[in-house]
This record gives sequence, C-alpha cells and structure tokens, in this order.
Amino acid sequence: MRWVMALLLALSFGSAAVAAEESAWEGQTVLVTGANRGLGLEFARQLQAAGATVIGTARKPEKAEELKALGVRVEQLDVADPASVAALAERLDGAPLDALLNNAGIFLERGDFESADPEAAMKVYNVNTVGPMRVTQALLPNLRLGQRKLIMNMSSGLGSIGNNDRGAFVSYRASKAALNMQTRTQAVELAKENFICIAMSPGWVRTDMGGENASLSPAESVSGMLGVLAPLTVEDSGRYLNHDGTELPW
Ligand SMILES: NC(=O)c1ccc[n+]([C@@H]2O[C@H](COP(=O)([O-])OP(=O)(O)OC[C@H]3O[C@@H](n4cnc5c(N)ncnc54)[C@H](OP(=O)(O)O)[C@@H]3O)[C@@H](O)[C@H]2O)c1
Repeated sequence: MRWVMALLLALSFGSAAVAAEESAWEGQTVLVTGANRGLGLEFARQLQAAGATVIGTARKPEKAEELKALGVRVEQLDVADPASVAALAERLDGAPLDALLNNAGIFLERGDFESADPEAAMKVYNVNTVGPMRVTQALLPNLRLGQRKLIMNMSSGLGSIGNNDRGAFVSYRASKAALNMQTRTQAVELAKENFICIAMSPGWVRTDMGGENASLSPAESVSGMLGVLAPLTVEDSGRYLNHDGTELPW
C-alpha cells in the first residue's frame, strides 16, 4: 500500500512530495529501452535529474542526439533483433542493474479487426511483447545483482481487456494484453527473489506515437510514473497501474 500513501502524499503536498519520491531513484542504475525519443527520452532525462545512473538504449545511437546530449550512457539495442539483445547483455556482463524499463514499442494500425494486416500484427507482437521478453531474459543476471529488482513493462490503457468497449487497434491492444500476462507471470515466478514486476500505462501522451492531441505531456506522464514506481515493494508485484497510480482492470 506504499504507493497509495505516496499518491495521497503527492495529492496533499504537491511537488514537494513528488520530489521526495523521486529521490528514491538516487544512486539506482536504470536501463531504459527506446530512450532516444518520446517517453523513453523523458524517462532518461528525469531519472538522471533524480540522481540515477541511466543506461539509455537506441536502435541507432549515432542518431540519438538528444539522448547523448544528456550525458547518459547510450547503448545500441533493437529489441526485435536477438543478436542485438545478446550483444547488449554481453557488454553489460557482470554489471548490476536496479531497474529495467521496457519502454520501446510500436503502433502500426488503428483500423478495425476485419481490415487488420496479419503481417503488421506479427511486427507489433515481435517488438511490443517478444521484445521485452528477450530483453528481460537477457538482463535477468544483471537485475539479480541489483538492489531494487524492478522490471517495468510499458503497457497501455489499450491493453486492458476489461476496458475495451470501443474495438479497433487490435494488434496493438493484443500485444499489450499479452505483455500484461507476461508481466504477471514474471511476477509470480520471480516473487521468491523479491522482484517487482509492473505493467504500467503512461496515459495518452504527446509523443510521435500519441500525437499532438494527446492529453498529457511526456514530462507529466513520466513524473507520474516515476512517482508511482518509486515506493513500490514486492507486495505490489504483478499489478497493472496507470500513470496516476490507479489500478487498471486486466
Ligand atoms: N504515447 C502514448 O500515448 C502511449 C500510450 C500508451 C502506451 N505507450 C507506450 O509507451 C512506450 C513509448 O511510447 P512513445 O509514445 O514514447 O512512442 P514513440 O515516441 O513512438 O517512441 C518509441 C520508442 O521505441 C523505440 N523502438 C521502436 N521499435 C524498437 C525496436 N525494435 N527496438 C528498440 N527500440 C524500438 C523507438 O526507437 P526509434 O526512434 O529507433 O524508432 C523510440 O525510441 C511504447 O511502449 C508505447 O506503446 C505510449
């Protein structure tokens, strides 16, 4: 219930309480996938400002100008490419990681089920669902060496089966619903090692993916998510949480 208290504190005392929660990241080593733009870049920025050691990954590090400008460690990673994942794990061999934020994701189609392209669906599943599986499996030895043992899988409100009363976006929705199940399975299996595995929705955010009409800025969404994640303990593992700390229906 620590996150509920954190949320109440944040609502009561505003940014001071949020800042206090963010200091929980100080000294933590956090790897963020897809950190060259959008939410991943904002995670890298805010985590670094909170005193974390950030490893930000990009498919093309040579083009990740904004990420490099932060001065964080930048590593190449394409979550859809097993060789790229294996190479990252090799470069990080023996290095403790406190938290893994599986943020990288794609969104290819917004149409209805009947018009959905099965080949596009395969691509979406490969990046959004199998990608976090590959990366987490490869970096589990590093997370086992870390203190916090936090794995956040970036889900979406669109991954909620219970909330789906509008249809459309089928491959994206299914990729995130499967990621939710993956998260819950990891949580059950890794509970004995005190891992905290969380499926998180960032809300609708103004990034390349979310578009300019989205309701939240990346800064608002990410500070909300970091505030929610900071106080979580192993008792919270296996939950599906919104950026404001509310519980989402599976
Ligand atoms: N924005 C929203 O409203 C919203 C809502 C719900 C959930 N989400 C989720 O939040 C996460 C971040 O979304 P965003 O809005 O920041 O999206 P974005 O602006 O489109 O950024 C996506 C990031 O993922 C990376 N990526 C894509 N395919 C990859 C791959 N195969 N390997 C490694 N990295 C890859 C991209 O790298 P490149 O630059 O190389 O393409 C980019 O860094 C995603 O998982 C998304 O599904 C977003």
